[in-house]
Amino acid sequence: MGYHLIAVGRRQDRLDALRAELPAVSVRTVAADLDTDEGIEAVARICAAEPLDMLVNNAGVSHYMAFADLPADKLAELLHVKVVAPTTLARAAVPGMVGRGRGTASLAGLTLGEVVCAPGVERGELLDTARGASVAAFGGQSPSLAARYRAG
Ligand SMILES: NC(=O)c1ccc[n+]([C@@H]2O[C@H](COP(=O)([O-])OP(=O)(O)OC[C@H]3O[C@@H](n4cnc5c(N)ncnc54)[C@H](OP(=O)(O)O)[C@@H]3O)[C@@H](O)[C@H]2O)c1
Repeated sequence: MGYHLIAVGRRQDRLDALRAELPAVSVRTVAADLDTDEGIEAVARICAAEPLDMLVNNAGVSHYMAFADLPADKLAELLHVKVVAPTTLARAAVPGMVGRGRGTASLAGLTLGEVVCAPGVERGELLDTARGASVAAFGGQSPSLAARYRAG
């Protein structure tokens, strides 16, 4: 069984290309920036209104540099896209899933325990700090959320 898709990204041209690649599937595109409160809210409204079977939190950014060198705006972007957005979207989607008795809010794309490396960076562990914190922040609450709603 296939799924109808709601695809989110910042660039409408790439969303259009995705839709063209999948002519047999219904693809609704939503241009939104998950680095902004407005973008997150717009997608959260869709998550709350549509009967989603699955929420895939795949949007991500990688800023390959030492933590001490990471500019504040890049750190804020990382935390918005990889912590605030998935948490807010899951919060918006879950009540409908609970009401319908089915649904999955997934963290596909985040690989726990992954080692991050980048060419020319000798101390790879420095790259992991902020990204690791973002993964831990969302990953840490997923098991308890899943357990709560699985039990319901
Ligand atoms: N590639 C790897 O080796 C690897 C390993 C572990 C985990 N991951 C994770 O897996 C996920 C996908 O990785 P990938 O390699 O496929 O990355 P990618 O090719 O860079 O794709 C990232 C996607 O996120 C979207 N995106 C980025 N910033 C966004 C924003 N502010 N608002 C809305 N959409 C945004 C991008 O679309 P637009 O640019 O059009 O907005 C794009 O579709 C990411 O979360 C990444 O961190 C990747």
